[in-house]
Amino acid sequence: MGKFNRRTFLAFVSALIPSALLGKAEAAASPYGSFLAKSTAIKLGQTQIYGAKDSNGRSFEVVLTRTRTGVTALEGTCTHQGCLVDLKKNSLVCPCHGSVFNPASGAVIMGPNGSSKSSIKPLTKYKVTEKSGKIYIK
Ligand code: FES
Repeated sequence: MGKFNRRTFLAFVSALIPSALLGKAEAAASPYGSFLAKSTAIKLGQTQIYGAKDSNGRSFEVVLTRTRTGVTALEGTCTHQGCLVDLKKNSLVCPCHGSVFNPASGAVIMGPNGSSKSSIKPLTKYKVTEKSGKIYIK
């Protein structure tokens, strides 16, 4: 799961869930991972960014996108120098140096400052399980 260990990840998920959007948060992790959102929270073709702070106060994001093949979850931290990406039209754009990423796959569309897409790594993917109307990630 990249640079997060289990403890920071669970702290992040517990801080992540906006109760107004998602209803009651489930504190315990399931066999499928940590609960992130209700399935109804994200419709086909939609991308949503969930922001949070980990136990060290560091801000980060998880980007959820639903496509015809299911839901993908990406870490919303730019792989160039660690800024948090924004959703603009149908792309994830880094506000620091302009890298652009595909919100469903995390693939690089354009590197920093207009450089080639091979100049940086794609966004990190989480494993997603959608079960009984709930989305879990790990
Ligand atoms: S930190 Fe994202 S493009 Fe530089």
